[in-house]
Amino acid sequence: MKRLIVLLLMLPLAAAAQPMEWTEIFPGIWKGVAGRPEAYDLLTAAECEPFARSLERLERTPFPFDPAYVNAEVSDGNTYLRFPLERDEQIYGLGLNFQTVHQRGRILGLHVDHYGGRDNGRTHAPVPFYVSSAGYGVLVNSARYMTFYIGTAVRSDARDAPRARDRNTDSGWTSRPYSDAVEVYVPAEGVEVYLFSGGTPLGAVERYNLFCGGGALPPRWGLGFTQRVEKLSDAAQVVAEAEEFERRGYPLDFIGLEPGWQSRAYPCTFEWDTGRFPDPAGLTRQLLDRGVRLNLWMNPYVSPEASIYNDILPHTGTHTVWCGVVPDLNDPEAVRIWTDRLRQGQVDTGVSGYKIDEVDGYDHYLWPDVARFPSGTSADQMRQTYGVLAQKVTARLYRDAGMRTFGLVRASNAGANNMPYVLYNDYYSHPDFITALVNSGFCGVLWTPEVRSSKTAEEWLRRFQSVVFSPMAMINAWSSGTKPWSFPEVAGQVKYYAELRMMLMPYFYSEFARYRFEGTPPFRAMALEPGFRYDSRTEAGSRDLEDNPYLEAVTREVKDQYMAGKFLLVAPMFAGQTSRTVILPQGNWYNFYTGRYAGNGEEITVEPGLDFIPVYVRDGSVIPFMQPLLHSPGPDDKVDIEFRHYGNREGSYRLYDDDGTTFAYEDGLYSWRTATVSRNACGELTGSLSDPEEGKPNTVGRVTFRFMTRSE
Ligand code: GAL
Repeated sequence: MKRLIVLLLMLPLAAAAQPMEWTEIFPGIWKGVAGRPEAYDLLTAAECEPFARSLERLERTPFPFDPAYVNAEVSDGNTYLRFPLERDEQIYGLGLNFQTVHQRGRILGLHVDHYGGRDNGRTHAPVPFYVSSAGYGVLVNSARYMTFYIGTAVRSDARDAPRARDRNTDSGWTSRPYSDAVEVYVPAEGVEVYLFSGGTPLGAVERYNLFCGGGALPPRWGLGFTQRVEKLSDAAQVVAEAEEFERRGYPLDFIGLEPGWQSRAYPCTFEWDTGRFPDPAGLTRQLLDRGVRLNLWMNPYVSPEASIYNDILPHTGTHTVWCGVVPDLNDPEAVRIWTDRLRQGQVDTGVSGYKIDEVDGYDHYLWPDVARFPSGTSADQMRQTYGVLAQKVTARLYRDAGMRTFGLVRASNAGANNMPYVLYNDYYSHPDFITALVNSGFCGVLWTPEVRSSKTAEEWLRRFQSVVFSPMAMINAWSSGTKPWSFPEVAGQVKYYAELRMMLMPYFYSEFARYRFEGTPPFRAMALEPGFRYDSRTEAGSRDLEDNPYLEAVTREVKDQYMAGKFLLVAPMFAGQTSRTVILPQGNWYNFYTGRYAGNGEEITVEPGLDFIPVYVRDGSVIPFMQPLLHSPGPDDKVDIEFRHYGNREGSYRLYDDDGTTFAYEDGLYSWRTATVSRNACGELTGSLSDPEEGKPNTVGRVTFRFMTRSE
């Protein structure tokens, strides 16, 4: 009897540290469950539905590692996870990092926060998804603050253990011995884990994106140019701004109004300031008639002077932000009251979207972890998901109105992949903004390296050149009042790039459609590019790779160049630089502007001069360009397309088309047309575009082909 009790007491302990069981839920995607997962997690907050249509068509891939080496242990209300790491493996992702791309050897405490200058896990989108250079990804689906030990901790039962060395005599001793695991601390009694086996790192990311619903498809106008005006601008100044863009011939698709459109801000009323904006509906219409939309800044914290204050009060948290109440976005009544307010006189008059600020916020002004919310969502879970909830409910507002939106938000997390929002912040380091763009593609979010102001014309142009190769081409002049032409010395070059952005609209729109339907991030790291190896930057260094492979790897991260869509390799220049190195993956690469050969699988040094941001194109690329219109074309417009071919190889491009503004594409009202460049009997390159599909939207006018390398 006594023995049985001892056995029974030991059972839970013995059962606790066990390999996880995995169920394949889509080809190459497995779900594992540890302990008892909580009802509220990142994917339930986002309410994302896997994009089954695309997922079911994917090839089966093998389970990515030995399942016996994954451990899950639940104890004291916490879950402890271990995943394997091989010696030559690199780890990417785990959220929107600004200074690092390689995460092996790092410890990250994932926590939604305004980025504070260090990659420690506190960031705008601390997405608990990592991607391995071995071609798989891991999502730990908890809305708690989790800690990831990414090849830092060494267990006594490690399979591939480092050997102890004598520091007295062994110069190879290190304070950071080799670790063969990623370990995760989850402060909850259980958690769901998803594994994505992609064959390649890009394949893993695509599966992750599709599993979370596919990527966001902006309206066409979202890919044009946007200017945010000074915070206290009034209606007349906004109209004057739109007129000036037109008069000077700079493209403009939407204007962002900053806090001053509201009668009170920080906290907000969500009501127009009738002094500055006496006729908001008239203004919105007047701008729409000129082809310019409005986007409205806000934070969700409700001012005591807001008309919705008394109604929403019972549906808010125990703590305030700047004396404004915090709507519980898991309480349907709070959502109804808040979104009704946004609908009336804003969405229903044609306002195109919102900039949802401060949903990240620093600890000292957001609600503390002791706050309570009526829905029962804990304060930490609310912190991890508030940006996602705000995106979800505002995106629904637009879906209900049958209009696509494209807005800005300062916090996100896993599962928000297909929400039409772009992240931004106040940190304003140009190089680090580019690293964020590189990392955004690992974690299912979009990021804009916005331009605000600059100390010099050179810096202004350099920042402008890179923002046009990003998800949102934006000047945020809320405090500076800058305009594209503010630095006359470089106004011509700025205009060239603003026009180039418009010319690339068919390309970027098609690339976003690939994100939507196939999960391919439109802006992504070189590590996701075929023919690129993470260790291609330098020769192996002097360190003992047997014991410290990750230490070498971190010095080789490539964080200042990225892929923009299928074909463009963008290598931004920063103020003060006159030359830079660019790593070209395997295969022939060509200069985007001239079509000239640039290199193959090598590191080149370039001196492009101030006028150009270095951009390279793969052999056989076929890129659609349109005319530099001042506003995005409407659903009934026809635009002429010039397909530019680079290099000597035959190639093709799938051009996406739909009405550009509604959700009709979800009912099949879209088409992919294939532009093909091939060699004819005389060996000359010629191009053709497949016919439009009967009954589908068709915005393509005259089609021409230009052979950039041949015409050199
Ligand atoms: C900041 C935001 C800026 C601008 C400003 C207006 O929080 O990041 O982009 O909107 O608020 O007060």
